[in-house]
Amino acid sequence: MARNYHRRLALAVALMSALLAVQAFDLQRSLLPPELAGLSAAELLAAVTADPDCTFANPTDATVRKETACAGCTVVKTCVYAGSIGWIAGKNSSCSGGTPWCNDGACSATPSPTLNCNSAKADDTFQCPSNGYWPNLASCNKYWMCTSAGAFAGDCSGYNNAVYDPLTTLCVPKSQVTCSTISCKNAPAYQVVPSAPWLYAVCTSDNLADAVVLKCENQNQRYNGTNCVNACNQAGRFPLWAPDSAAGAAGADTGSYFECVANGNELIGPTVGKCPGKGTFDSATSRCTFT
Ligand SMILES: *[C@@H]1O[C@H](CO)[C@@H](O)[C@H](O)[C@H]1NC(C)=O
Ligand SMILES: *[C@@H]1O[C@H](CO)[C@@H](O)[C@H](O)[C@H]1NC(C)=O
Repeated sequence: MARNYHRRLALAVALMSALLAVQAFDLQRSLLPPELAGLSAAELLAAVTADPDCTFANPTDATVRKETACAGCTVVKTCVYAGSIGWIAGKNSSCSGGTPWCNDGACSATPSPTLNCNSAKADDTFQCPSNGYWPNLASCNKYWMCTSAGAFAGDCSGYNNAVYDPLTTLCVPKSQVTCSTISCKNAPAYQVVPSAPWLYAVCTSDNLADAVVLKCENQNQRYNGTNCVNACNQAGRFPLWAPDSAAGAAGADTGSYFECVANGNELIGPTVGKCPGKGTFDSATSRCTFT
């Protein structure tokens, strides 16, 4: 009984001193984002932790209550000193105009050398599935280049009659690519991207920007609703990415391949073939090699 009482007392003292530490410091609430500004000291203590971007030493001068840090390539974050909690994240502000970059906690004409910022500006309207080139599902002329610093827009519309070709990642004449955009209004469960059938989009709302783009492992595959299956998206001879039960071929069978043959504007295939003898298929040269 007595031990329990002491433990509770110790807990209460610890909580009180933590609250006092927040209050005593005269927290600058005007620097906090609106959802935090109205919280009591106790609520604040429960709701926030020290922010990893705000790596400042605790101030020795009681008048220092804010510092600034970069919250990404183009955002300046206010860091607010909150006593026992440490430095917490306050309001953000975006850099623009002649000083579009956050560099060392301030807007600057040059990007931070420590953040991985490209000199082009990342556009967060596209959720990058992974690094690389991705078609813009809202426009046949446009595409995205995804990097660890975010998505960067690419545009073929500066060239006469050019559209983006997801297969080669180049701007090509309109006649060479089947392009149609995707819409998320009354969308089915998934949509294969017409110009890039190894990609498929799953809409999560009516807004195309919220769609999740998924991809089959290889460009010569197509999603059929449950699996990525071998498919002819371009002419050539390819490794058997997936099993083909109709042709009696198991996936990852190094002695087999499938072929896609151009016939006018059509592609014939996929036709599964087997390398003769003990030949194995070499994807680098698209040929059977024999020993
Ligand atoms: C500030 O910006 C960062 C990075 O963009 C973001 O993660 C964070 O949620 C933003 N904070 C506020 C309060 O808007
Ligand atoms: C998709 O591919 C798998 C594997 O080849 C097959 O079992 C399945 O029946 C296919 N589904 C449709 C809808 O074609």
